[in-house]
Parts: sequence; structure tokens; C-alpha cells
Amino acid sequence: MEQTLSIIKPDGVSQGLIGEVIKRFEANGIRIAAMKMLQMTKKQAQGFYAVHKERPFFESLTDFMTSGPVVAMVLEGENVIEKNRTLMGATNFKEAEEGTIRRDFATDIEKNVVHGSDSPETAAFEISYFFNQFEIIK
Ligand code: TYD
Repeated sequence: MEQTLSIIKPDGVSQGLIGEVIKRFEANGIRIAAMKMLQMTKKQAQGFYAVHKERPFFESLTDFMTSGPVVAMVLEGENVIEKNRTLMGATNFKEAEEGTIRRDFATDIEKNVVHGSDSPETAAFEISYFFNQFEIIK
């Protein structure tokens, strides 16, 4: 079964959206296979978003991602990478479909509530970035 990494970002946690986001996953047949709350260090955030290190928003993004606690989850289900991306909505909430998490709750292109892996390769990297094999429930 396919797996993906989801993160409820600091703005999602501070807006009190942990339950709302998890409710949407479960209501759509997605299983939570692992979950933890943590506050990322700057180094950890820079490593996580290393693909974006040359982008103009990298400094601001990594500051934001370390600004408060996040909830990291391994989601499991059929086609879950794409399914999660659909539930999240477009990166820019102004372009996100109605009823998506970002359309409903994002306040800014950066403060967009959730992260989700965008391919099987990034999912494998991102899951192993936060979880070891014993923390992922079969
Ligand atoms: P990206 O991986 O392109 O988007 P997504 O999260 O939808 O996979 O970008 C990572 C994060 O970087 C994005 O969620 C918000 C932030 N970001 C900006 O702050 N400004 C931008 O112009 C872009 C493209 C992203």
C-alpha cells in the first residue's frame, strides 16, 4: 500500500486545526500509520526542504517551519500521495479548489497549513526523515 508524509505546519497547529486535518484524512479512507509532534530545528528544516535551497523563499520558509510545533504523519492508502495532494489543494491557496484544506484555512502562500510529499521518491525520503521503521504501524 502506498505511503506519504504529511505535516501540519506551525500555522495549522496554532490555528487549532490538528483535529480538522486528521478528520479529513480519515473521512477519505486514509489510514494514519505513524504520527508525532515536534518542533524542527533550522538545520532539520533546511535538510527537509533542501530541494528548494536556491529559491528566494527558502530562508523565510525554513524560519516559518521552525517557528512552532508541527505534526508529522505517515499516511497510508491507495493512491495516497495524489489523494493527499488533492485534499490539500494548490500551493497558493488563492488557486486552490473549494473544499480543500489550503483553500479553507491557508492565510498566505507560505502559511498554507499542510505539507504533503509530491512523488514516491520524495515520500520515501520524507518519511525516513522523521520516522524509523519501528514507529510506522503495519
Ligand atoms: P512547493 O514544494 O513548491 O509546494 P507544496 O508545498 O505545495 O509541495 O513549496 C514548498 C513550500 O514553500 C510551500 O508549501 C510554501 C512555500 N512557498 C513559498 O513560500 N513561496 C513560493 O513562491 C512557493 C512556490 C512556495
